[in-house]
Amino acid sequence: MRFTGVKGLHPHMQKILLTEEEIQSRVRQIAGQISSDYAGQDPLLVGILKGAFIFLADLVRYLTIPVQLDFIAVSSYGNASESSGAVRILKDLDQSIEGLHVLIVEDIVDTGLTLNYLRENLRAREPASLKVCTLLDKPSRRLVEVKIDYNGFVIPDEFVVGYGLDYNGHYRYFRDIMVLKREVYAR
Ligand code: IMP
Repeated sequence: MRFTGVKGLHPHMQKILLTEEEIQSRVRQIAGQISSDYAGQDPLLVGILKGAFIFLADLVRYLTIPVQLDFIAVSSYGNASESSGAVRILKDLDQSIEGLHVLIVEDIVDTGLTLNYLRENLRAREPASLKVCTLLDKPSRRLVEVKIDYNGFVIPDEFVVGYGLDYNGHYRYFRDIMVLKREVYAR
């Protein structure tokens, strides 16, 4: 059952921003690009937990090249919808990335603080190359400039959930990406 279908939108949602079909078609396109850019390089994809887990799972299944996977977990918003600016590694990579072609896979770039921190942190470990892939980009909220190499969708300044993205741990399981009603996170 689709939670967005049957009896209409979930009551906490304002609207669907990106449908499952739109997301899947874009993820497939990005996977095509990554497959040709990294052909013969055996890249390591680093998923940022928890938000990127669904995106990464779909992305790797559309790839046509071999890749390795690792995960890193960072603290971002905690229980609020605003960034504190402080980034902390909660779970580090399992392996050394020295000499590897590393692609960071993120769910959304908002202020850019998380990605900026991660880029610097991983760069210091001397990978052969380091690039960034994000599903969503909210450029209007940027506090620090970060280079994005693969960008799924540029979205307006709304708080979105679904397809791995949460608010307070909720709504990650939706297949579509939806705008959360302001009253749900402003109370
Ligand atoms: P940044 O450090 O401000 O760029 O924030 C990046 C992180 O904040 C993302 O990895 C998400 O976990 C979270 N985030 C930012 N905007 C949203 C949103 O609209 N919905 C859900 N999570 C978000």
